[in-house]
Amino acid sequence: MTDHGNALALYVHWPYCARICPYCDFNVVRDRGRVAEQAGLAAAILSDLEAQAVLTGPRRLASIFFGGGTPSLMEPAAVAAVIDRARTLFPPAGEVEITLEANPTDAEAGRFNALAEAGVNRLSMGVQALDDAALAFLGRNHSADEARRAVAVAARAFDRLSIDLIYARPDQTVASWTAELTEALDMGFEHVSPYQLTIEPTTAFGRAVARGLWTPPDEDTAAALYETTQAVLEGAGFDAYEVSNHGRGVAARSTHNLHVWRGGDYLGLGPGAHGRLTLAGARTATVARRGIADYVAGVATGQPWSDHEILDPRSAAEERVLLGLRTVEGVALTELATLDRSMETGPLAGLIADGFLTVAAGRVVATPAGRPVLDGVLRALLV
Ligand SMILES: C[S@@+](CC[C@H](N)C(=O)[O-])C[C@H]1O[C@@H](n2cnc3c(N)ncnc32)[C@H](O)[C@@H]1O
Ligand code: SF4
Repeated sequence: MTDHGNALALYVHWPYCARICPYCDFNVVRDRGRVAEQAGLAAAILSDLEAQAVLTGPRRLASIFFGGGTPSLMEPAAVAAVIDRARTLFPPAGEVEITLEANPTDAEAGRFNALAEAGVNRLSMGVQALDDAALAFLGRNHSADEARRAVAVAARAFDRLSIDLIYARPDQTVASWTAELTEALDMGFEHVSPYQLTIEPTTAFGRAVARGLWTPPDEDTAAALYETTQAVLEGAGFDAYEVSNHGRGVAARSTHNLHVWRGGDYLGLGPGAHGRLTLAGARTATVARRGIADYVAGVATGQPWSDHEILDPRSAAEERVLLGLRTVEGVALTELATLDRSMETGPLAGLIADGFLTVAAGRVVATPAGRPVLDGVLRALLV
């Protein structure tokens, strides 16, 4: 395990997107090219970083993740400024994984070299689909060929590439998904994040499905697509180190994600960003103000958070169980004992007997049968 006590990760949220996708309920806004507003946000993120460094005291930088929204639309100079300041405030011990989420358009591919020069060393590409009809359905602003071109450019600029794909789309078949996934693997990604399409109620897709305009695949079809995902990726040498994250070997795993899932501290910077900090010995959950102007004003007055809460030991343990069971590492039995869950009786014993959880070397891990129904397993375990 890592030295959680001292290691600190950074999550930076850049909320702008060229177009808002109909399935997405992240904290995003249309990019209207407001240069001064964006420069103001970049400056506020730096000030927030400085201010939170005073709270955390000296720490060792573990990783940085630029997420969004669309951070590939961020000025490379602004990305470099965050990276440089973070390295100065929190001197790292060695190589630091610095990931940035990128949309695969021609325009953004033109910035990949500058982003690599800024210090980004891992690109997470939101390809979503390799089929033009599916991309149109998903409301994406790029074609499959444009994505292929962007991947080729990215491969020259970065050693480490990850791909996000969305499956369980209406009318998707096991055969077409297998072909798409196989093509993605042939492109040379070391890391794949296949997400099952989730219909979020507050999105355009949520409203369309509620009105009966179309229906997502039924449970059996979604389960078959999930099984296909596991089989194809496993067959190609990718291990599912988390429910939706597959790496080609241990070195391809995202150290940032692992740090978060293992309960490490991370700063949340930017509008709506969540953070987890140990302050005066207490695990504290932070949420930054959601609106851009509100966040910038909050940073200026020393109040960037709309909410921060000291997690009591039980809530902190529950969170570690929720995250840990999503990963191959699972969670320590001692952690579950904090929550009065024992292997002999009650829900933990039942879930083990039913084959959804298993115990190895003092840790509880979800089985292949438990993983696809993990939300239900966690409810049964914790409620
Ligand atoms: C917050 S997005 C940022 C990435 C980047 N803006 C993009 O769209 O390529 C991170 C990933 O979440 C996934 N995602 C977002 N909403 C989803 C949904 N409703 N169902 C499944 N996956 C979703 C997409 O695969 C996306 O790449
Ligand atoms: S999926 Fe990505 S590009 Fe689309 S709205 Fe969400 S964050 Fe923006």
